[in-house]
Amino acid sequence: MNFDVCVIGAGPGGYVAAIRSAQLGLKTCVIERDRLGGVCLNVGCIPSKAMITASHLLHRVQHDAPEMGIKIGGKVSVDMPTLLSWKNSVCERMSGGVQQLLKGNSVEVMSGEATFKNATTLTVKGKDKTQDVTAKHFVIATGSRPIEIPGFAFDEKIVMSSTGALDLDQLPKKLVVIGGGYIGLEIAGYLAKLGTEVTVLEANKEILFGVVDKECVQVVARKLKKLGVQILTDAKAKGYVKKGSGVEVTCEIFGKEEKLVADKILVTVGRKPNSDQMNLKGIGLAIDEKGFIKVDAKRRTSLPNIYAIGDIACQPMLAHKASHEGVLVAEVIGGKNRAYDVKTVPAVIFTDPEIASAGMTEEECKAKGFTDLRVGKFPFAANGRAVSMMETDGFVKIVANAKNNVVLGVHIVGPEASNLISEAALAIEMGATVEDLALTIHPHPTLGETMMEAAEATLGHAIHVIQRPLSQRKTPTAHV
Ligand code: NAI
Repeated sequence: MNFDVCVIGAGPGGYVAAIRSAQLGLKTCVIERDRLGGVCLNVGCIPSKAMITASHLLHRVQHDAPEMGIKIGGKVSVDMPTLLSWKNSVCERMSGGVQQLLKGNSVEVMSGEATFKNATTLTVKGKDKTQDVTAKHFVIATGSRPIEIPGFAFDEKIVMSSTGALDLDQLPKKLVVIGGGYIGLEIAGYLAKLGTEVTVLEANKEILFGVVDKECVQVVARKLKKLGVQILTDAKAKGYVKKGSGVEVTCEIFGKEEKLVADKILVTVGRKPNSDQMNLKGIGLAIDEKGFIKVDAKRRTSLPNIYAIGDIACQPMLAHKASHEGVLVAEVIGGKNRAYDVKTVPAVIFTDPEIASAGMTEEECKAKGFTDLRVGKFPFAANGRAVSMMETDGFVKIVANAKNNVVLGVHIVGPEASNLISEAALAIEMGATVEDLALTIHPHPTLGETMMEAAEATLGHAIHVIQRPLSQRKTPTAHV
């Protein structure tokens, strides 16, 4: 049980680190206490996307299909147990894929709970046996867990975290969601489409406050309202009591106490790193005040042979950032000259429509000293593919430095925003200008043309919206 690299945690950070280590010829093991693929593949990104896909399909069949002339006999409805088992099959397939990849790369997979005995030895408590594992290098990739708030302890039946919400085999009639962030809004949206009456309580004055471009949020907020989701801002959940088979939630809305009746409660107020486990403090690992393991650009911790990646290491808590770090850390251990040096970590919120962003918002640009900005927007309603898909809500917005037209940020709300944002991330990483985007031929008819036209709009001459040339405006650098 002596390895070159021992990775703890097989989520999108850990399993990627293990595969890359093995590819580099290092004797590698990965230890996982639960299922391969971690939160992302089993109780996070993938199952939520399965649920979102199913609810979107149901909604489109119910609402859009008749307008397209598609006639459906009888009532279209969802069978929750079947949906649940399909969702589980998606997760199993993905987790099985990870197992195959690890095996195919000769990574030793160990099942059990790992704890540091000292900085060079782990004790792994498996189902049948407990054993010690030593390694030259350890990579901690043990992730994060949902934050609990006082008065709302998770039982995953009445008070659910995202894990419980993704495992419902019966639709709640009424649901109170505490926290209008990434997770709360994704789940609120799909449950509303499936038929649940949802109320979102958000402590801030807006949902997704300070997280993404404000205008993007407005489009999603409008759609949520259209779906019947009630959004209460400046609203703090205080506690709940059981009432009949459901609950009565006490909350403070604009300082006034109110009561809400529901069947269940979903708490999505953020996640915290799992750094209070594994005896990390006991071996002297430096942890910051927010609970993240302190790391440098090579993802080295305060102990020379231990590295940390993913949600436990630093923000943003996003799977693709963890995977990027997984490759990076393996290459650092393998002797390559690598460091975390990215201009942007694109982010996607799988609401309806989706929000995706790369780079800085206008506010962030200004805070960083970019005072002279050029901002252009192009609506999906003016894009042929979006119209033919009957998905015209939203826009692409580009924020550029007016001095040299370098793209500083791209914010998309609309159909397939998640798939469109990678072009923006590449543009930002490469220091592209708006001209680079505008002069790149984008195939027609595609949603991707909105990126090209938003770039043209930033320059004042988009073809499919009416614009006055920049030269004829009083403030050519303002919103276009
Ligand atoms: P979040 O940080 O996105 O949002 C939590 C919200 O809860 C905040 O708006 C906050 O103001 C509100 N809040 C806090 N306490 C409250 C209270 N007592 N009453 C009412 N509102 C309260 O956290 P969330 O949604 O749990 O997501 C956690 C993390 O998981 C995200 O930051 C993201 O990094 C990651 N994630 C990413 C996804 C993606 O990439 N699509 C999807 C889901 C999660």
